[in-house]
Amino acid sequence: MKALIETVKTMSVRSRAAGNSIKFLDHTWNDPGCQRLIEKMNTMTLDQLGIEGPDDPYHFQKGLNRITIEASDDYRLVLFFIKKGTIMPLHDHPNMCVFFRLLFGKLDYKSYDKLDDKFKYNRFSLDEYQEILGNKKTISAKLVNKTILHGPQFLMVRPSRNNLHAFEAQENTCFFDICLPNYTTDSLRRITYFKEVCPTQMDQMDAAELADNTAELSTAKPKGLTYLTYDTTPPKLPVNFEIEEVPYRGRLL
Ligand SMILES: [Fe+2]
Repeated sequence: MKALIETVKTMSVRSRAAGNSIKFLDHTWNDPGCQRLIEKMNTMTLDQLGIEGPDDPYHFQKGLNRITIEASDDYRLVLFFIKKGTIMPLHDHPNMCVFFRLLFGKLDYKSYDKLDDKFKYNRFSLDEYQEILGNKKTISAKLVNKTILHGPQFLMVRPSRNNLHAFEAQENTCFFDICLPNYTTDSLRRITYFKEVCPTQMDQMDAAELADNTAELSTAKPKGLTYLTYDTTPPKLPVNFEIEEVPYRGRLL
């Protein structure tokens, strides 16, 4: 674990030096430092992470359980344990990279990208963000992937690709996330939970409810277009959704 954390720290220093720019974070995939990170992440065993498996009551205490292995403003290493039948609501990772490794289990997975750059890259002040959220504004997004993930499997979230996702566990499931950089409480890298607007309601939406240029797109909707409504941000979580914090019991060395 120590070697993996060191690799993450090295990448986070480089990312910060690059101003945590979208350009840098969108291209980490090809970076030798990130390749080392992915390699190390992929070779971590359940035993090293202190995980017994899908039937272990310690890690599957509630519907959704989270272990933070280590975190700073620049990075975050977390493990998630999702009990069969639990939904992780649609949420984003603005201006971030996430290295995602499904360790075991089975997830119904959907990912989207916002269409308008202003919302894709959170190009607004905290005041404007709070106004968008308070007024439950709606934006358009495009479905990128809808599939069933089986462990073990690796995926990447980038600022410009695959940035929002939702999961539903079909089995007790565990995944490992490394975020680069970490979320912030200002609007730049703030997590938002969204609600998907059902297709039948899409045509009836008032233009005033839309925050982006969705109204102009409504006559020629691109294939796979979905409307997403800003729902909530921590400390307020979506209705019927709780996160249980569980202490790490794997190795740190
Ligand atoms: Fe996520």
